[in-house]
Amino acid sequence: MAFKRTLITAALPYANGELHLGHVRSTYIPADIHTRLLRFFGAKAIYISGSDEHGTPIAVNALKEGKHPKEYVDYYHRIIARDLKDACIEFDWFSRTTSESHRKLTLEFFNTLKKRGYIYKERVQQFYCERDKRPLPDRFVKGTCPYCGAEDQYSDYCEVCGRTFSSLEVKSPKCIICGETPTIRDSDHYFFDLPAFEERLRKWIASGRVRINPEVKHYVMNWINEGLKAWDITRDMDWGVPIPGERNKVLYVWFDAPIHYVTATKEWCEFNNENWEDYWKSDETKIIHFIGKDIIYHHCLFWPAMLEGSGYSVPDAIIASGTMKVEGHVFSKSRGYVVYVEEDYLANGLDPDALRYYIVSYSGHTRDLDFNWSTYGEKVNKELVGSLGNFSYRSLLFAHRSYGSVPMGAVDPEARRQVEETIETIKEGLDEYEFKKICDAFLGLADYGNRYIQSHEPWKLVKESPEEADEVIYNCVWLTKAIAVLMEPVLPFKAEKVLKLLGLPPNQPLEQALAPLDVGSELGKPEPLFRQVPDDEIEALEEAMVIRITRAKG
Ligand code: MSP
Ligand code: ZN
Repeated sequence: MAFKRTLITAALPYANGELHLGHVRSTYIPADIHTRLLRFFGAKAIYISGSDEHGTPIAVNALKEGKHPKEYVDYYHRIIARDLKDACIEFDWFSRTTSESHRKLTLEFFNTLKKRGYIYKERVQQFYCERDKRPLPDRFVKGTCPYCGAEDQYSDYCEVCGRTFSSLEVKSPKCIICGETPTIRDSDHYFFDLPAFEERLRKWIASGRVRINPEVKHYVMNWINEGLKAWDITRDMDWGVPIPGERNKVLYVWFDAPIHYVTATKEWCEFNNENWEDYWKSDETKIIHFIGKDIIYHHCLFWPAMLEGSGYSVPDAIIASGTMKVEGHVFSKSRGYVVYVEEDYLANGLDPDALRYYIVSYSGHTRDLDFNWSTYGEKVNKELVGSLGNFSYRSLLFAHRSYGSVPMGAVDPEARRQVEETIETIKEGLDEYEFKKICDAFLGLADYGNRYIQSHEPWKLVKESPEEADEVIYNCVWLTKAIAVLMEPVLPFKAEKVLKLLGLPPNQPLEQALAPLDVGSELGKPEPLFRQVPDDEIEALEEAMVIRITRAKG
């Protein structure tokens, strides 16, 4: 089906820390590239997200820092927005789950689902601290993992074995505020009737109407076949969207967070004079969610059920990436296995475009990516410096020195064919959500360019046959332009630089990749496009990583 427009969403980052490579690899960079490419091919595309500011981890961390949660999330919202911008991740709208519009819309979902019988009340047992006189949801309790025996784990999730469990299962529970052993008390909670959607979800996934990769589809089906359970959407605390008519009860963060996809769309539509229902209550819009593998359950089951039950469109694609690891270890801030975008990467003078490239071209999108600095260095030096940067710089430098402007010439049919093929491959990469394919395609064009310049030897031709030299240099500059235009969604900063030397503004449309050059138009003086990352720098980066991990061990 041909869609009129595409809505691209990126899973909301928790306002609970700085942006790290795991976030950008799975979610923000691929979705940003996808959006830019759709526009490049002439489609209308909107890219939205926001910070996820509720939940017990945030409440607990704010408490530890002696701050009100609002003050705490205000800080991280700003930090995350900065980090995203510095990595050239450009949202059309990036707002927050603590906004008034979000609170209202969340309650609209809650009320609709309740009225339709999909939300009901039930009494549960939960931890309570007699000393602090408060209920202790999720992360307010620590204890021993009931599965692997690891100590000092939160009551809902074990960082060591990776299992999630319900609070009362944790062994030797302790209140994280005062250390006291909690008692157990009754509380009325609201439940979302997920089992009521079982057949609809099964059909939807099986029908192929939603694009989900086969492996993910397989285990979503397994979850359904194992039987879905009703979902507890209440937390007894005061940080979150308050449930009307209840004291000290809020909606679970995973109930309100995905609703922010709609909140952000509405906010953007209001600002741009569009109708939000064209996005969420229409078949004409393609809805794509970019997420990491760890939140598939929420996006393939909870969220579509909430949408279906409230009369909204369900997503058309859920693109889940593989997990990012550091030196073979799962990301863990507390254990030091983390690489921050700002602190560890940009602040060390490393290139944002090289990060975007490395992260999506290293392996297929659904595969796990094990980060280490030495492969980063090798890839940047070989591919970006050695091939792409080398060809563009050589071509532009030669043209600038020998002519100062575009020499006489016409597009070589073989070069043209190469560019046409590259465009086709990029289009396939876009349709298949294979970002590596896209990178390999424009890199292949740079390799072709290097072979072209090498085999034609323009430095000899300048003296022996000036007219032929003109032709060759014309084509080198033409190829450089084509590469710049085609690499722009992945390497926006660098593309802008090259285009500027050619007298062109950024965000060139597809046609520009094949358009002839303006003979005689002025050419700027180029600088090397990418910086070589030397071995000693890589060693220093590795060293810093080891220090953090060692320090975390205590
Ligand atoms: N706030 C939730 C998402 C709510 S969406 C309605 C969340 N936030 S997060 O900050 O933990 O993660 C943001 C995105 O980064 C998610 O798509 C998540 O899957 C992804 N990743 C976070 N760490 C990751 C890795 N180590 N590897 C791959 N993806 C990772 O989840
Ligand atoms: Zn206590």
